Amino acid sequence: MDITIEGRKRIYGTIKVPGDKSISHRAAIIGSIASGVTEIEGFLTGHDCMDTLNCFRRLGVYIKVDGDRVIIEGGGLHLKRPSDILYAGNSGTTARLLSGILAGQAFESAIDGDESLRKRPMDRVVLPLSMMGADITAVDGRYLPMRIEGGNLKAIDYNMYLASAQVKSAILLAGLYADGPTQVVEPFKSRNHTEIMLDSFGAKLICKNNSTIIYPAEKLIGQKVIVPGDISSAAFFIVAALILPGSEIEISNVNLNETRAGIIDVLKSMGGDIKIYDEKFQSGEKSGEIVVKSSTLKGIAIGGDMIPRLIDEIPVLAVAASFAAGTTVIRDAAELKVKESNRIETVWQELSKMGACIEKLDDGLAISGVAKLKGAIVDSHNDHRIAMALAVAGLAADGETLIQNFECTDISFPGFYDMLNSVCR
Ligand code: S3P
Repeated sequence: MDITIEGRKRIYGTIKVPGDKSISHRAAIIGSIASGVTEIEGFLTGHDCMDTLNCFRRLGVYIKVDGDRVIIEGGGLHLKRPSDILYAGNSGTTARLLSGILAGQAFESAIDGDESLRKRPMDRVVLPLSMMGADITAVDGRYLPMRIEGGNLKAIDYNMYLASAQVKSAILLAGLYADGPTQVVEPFKSRNHTEIMLDSFGAKLICKNNSTIIYPAEKLIGQKVIVPGDISSAAFFIVAALILPGSEIEISNVNLNETRAGIIDVLKSMGGDIKIYDEKFQSGEKSGEIVVKSSTLKGIAIGGDMIPRLIDEIPVLAVAASFAAGTTVIRDAAELKVKESNRIETVWQELSKMGACIEKLDDGLAISGVAKLKGAIVDSHNDHRIAMALAVAGLAADGETLIQNFECTDISFPGFYDMLNSVCR
């Protein structure tokens, strides 16, 4: 599906974005291995999280979905052998976290994904899970489809070579089934939703700086989980409000977990008028209301431990940087190459078509602000975050922007286009 965006708009109003993708995945996964009922409110019904639910249905878990409310009847840590392959679709989180659970199951199973997911590296989970004793075969040792035969796991001490919440989570989930405490150490702290949720379901963990120790569990107990709005989805509206003169947007109940809120810190350092109200904690996660007004932005340099805190927001940050005075340099972000698309390449390619002054770096991007972008025919590369970042760029450009393959926005943000239209003035 192609869509057209009219340029030179402003946005105004109050919105509520769909539930956080990372937290929804974890509620589905941890609820499925808990004993008793888990009730999830505000679940993200995008394709990625629905693929996670369907994998656990194949593993024998009863799951009912009613709008954004999900009921899971967990039967405990040990699942049923699936009669069919487990399909993770486009979702790296599904494939990698699920592999941690399957490593703990005393049966053989297999995970596959779509064309994009089949190109993304799985050796980052194959290596530690094999060290724990799981028998795993992947294509060329690193790609889906992947076969896993689990059970009898050994505890390990693992120093991760990259900051990745997906890898950390896979090891922590496998650690529930190990013969002693398992330790994971990250070079930088990645999102900690798994740790927060495991703790609330009754697992024993010790988290200190970049290290997490998980103890084997006999059982987890089903909980009620309230999922706040996704800051990664809110980011498209935050940037749109900042760069479209005369805009003001209020976004209610957005997750503000420190390990995720890097985009707010960076946009504020760039001069963005962003205010937070009504902060509260629900299901162990901080959330609040975000109010954003259009602002004059300036370029900035980012890298190091900031990157895991905003890795998914870099495509839309590049759009903000295109309207900032001076140059924005993003480094230490080579991970962008192995996301749903190679985001260094796709951001560069598509924003260049719109007249952005953007340079590819080995581990990031350098973007110099320009007075204007121009409408163009651009492509999402079937990457949801590229599609939505281009829509924001299109709103600020002169003329019309046609975005090809826009339907991929349903992966993380069903209803994005309608929500955007509802606040466009
Ligand atoms: C996610 C972790 C991040 C992020 C992805 C979701 C998660 O990936 O980019 O969209 O839910 O754990 P990495 O952990 O590979 O950095």
